[in-house]
This record gives sequence, C-alpha cells and structure tokens, in this order.
Amino acid sequence: MLGVDNTFSPMFLSPASLGADVVVHSISKFISGGADIIAGAVCGPASLVNSMMDLHQGSLMLLGPTMNAKVAFELSERIPHLALRMKEHCNRAMVYATRMKKMGLKVVYPGLEDHPQHKLLKSMINKEYGYGGLLCVDMETEERANRLMNLLQNYTQFGFMAVSLGYYETLMSCSGSSTSSEMNAEEKKLAGISPGLVRMSVGYIGTLEQRWSQFEKALSRMQDSGLFKN
Ligand SMILES: Cc1ncc(COP(=O)(O)O)c(C=O)c1O
Repeated sequence: MLGVDNTFSPMFLSPASLGADVVVHSISKFISGGADIIAGAVCGPASLVNSMMDLHQGSLMLLGPTMNAKVAFELSERIPHLALRMKEHCNRAMVYATRMKKMGLKVVYPGLEDHPQHKLLKSMINKEYGYGGLLCVDMETEERANRLMNLLQNYTQFGFMAVSLGYYETLMSCSGSSTSSEMNAEEKKLAGISPGLVRMSVGYIGTLEQRWSQFEKALSRMQDSGLFKN
C-alpha cells in the first residue's frame, strides 16, 4: 500500500490519480489557509476509512480525533476557494524564486528549470496551478539565515518567522535549527539542509510588487552589512 502526505501540495498534485492508495493531509496548512484550525484528513478506500471508524477497534473511535461540526462547517466554506489560493501561492513562489535567483541568491524551488526534479514534477502536476508555494533560500550560515529572517519580519514586514506553512502571509523558518533539528549533521547534509537554509511558505496578500519591494529592502540591508554579496 502506498501512502502519500500531500500537505505541501494540495490541488497542484493529485497523488490518488498517480497511483497512491491513501493520501493524508494536515488540514491546518494550505487547506485551512488561516493557521487557525487543527485538523487532518485521511483519504482512501472506503474499507480503510470504515475500519478507522469501527466502533470497537477503529483508531478514530479509540483515540477520539473526530472533527467537530463547527470546524467541518468552517472548512466547507474555505475549500471552494482553495484552488484560487493555491494558484496564487504557486504564482508568487515562482516569481520570487526567479527574481531571487537573478539577484544571485541560492534558491531551491522545483519550478526552476535547474532544479534536479523539475522535469519529473512537471510531468506529474496539474498544469493550471504551478509548482507549489514553498521555496528555500540557502544563506549558508545560521547567522545569516537568522539575520535575513529578522530583517524580513521586523524591518520590512515581508513575513513572519514560524515553522508552519500554507498561511496567507509568508512564513519563514530555518529548517536545520527548527523542523529538522532532530537530524544529525550527516543526515542534514544528505537531505540538502544546510545550516543557513531558509524555508519560505509564500503568502499572497498585498500586491506582489509591494511584497517584493519588502524583500528587496531587507536584502539590501544585508548587503550594507556585508552579509550578502552578488
Ligand atoms: C508535511 C506535513 N505533514 C504533516 C504535518 C503534521 O501536521 P499536524 O500537526 O496538523 O498534524 C506537517 C506539519 O508541519 C507537515 O508539514
């Protein structure tokens, strides 16, 4: 049985159509879009879902994570615009990744043609969306990563430092010292997580150019302090 966590890629990737048997989502991310709901989804054959709801042995019955009706209703009001939101997350991530690369930053984004999995992803995605709302910028050292995130949050208000993703605002975290801090140095190296890797979940509020100017302003402050050269 193949299970896929599609939390990072709702709408633009459809694992069930590509052969996955079970698809899971943390709904607290893109699907909610407001960083205010704690929920999840397990999508799979009726036999699996029914067994999870079995009155005597089912994990949902034993552990109790049954969604309450108010949360379910709120989600039903947000899912109709998930497609539009995903398109804009993807669009802005692509524009920012392209521009950041042009500025001389080391960018990791599967929408860029030089990404090692670009062709593979291109063959899998639902074409009208794009390549996802997450990108990484490698600032090489943790000090430079933290300085950039500090400027982006506190000097130019480009985004917030948070380990979550899929919010309408841009969220940034230094993966090596947060979400992947339990990995040892060798595992991080194998996974391509440098100490200065900044993950960004690109938001969509405000105009694209206004938000981009906030990024540029923070980067030029980095240049003034000699922490970035292009
Ligand atoms: C890819 C992925 N799957 C699952 C989860 C777990 O989400 P939750 O805490 O809502 O269960 C996360 C949380 O960050 C995630 O990034």
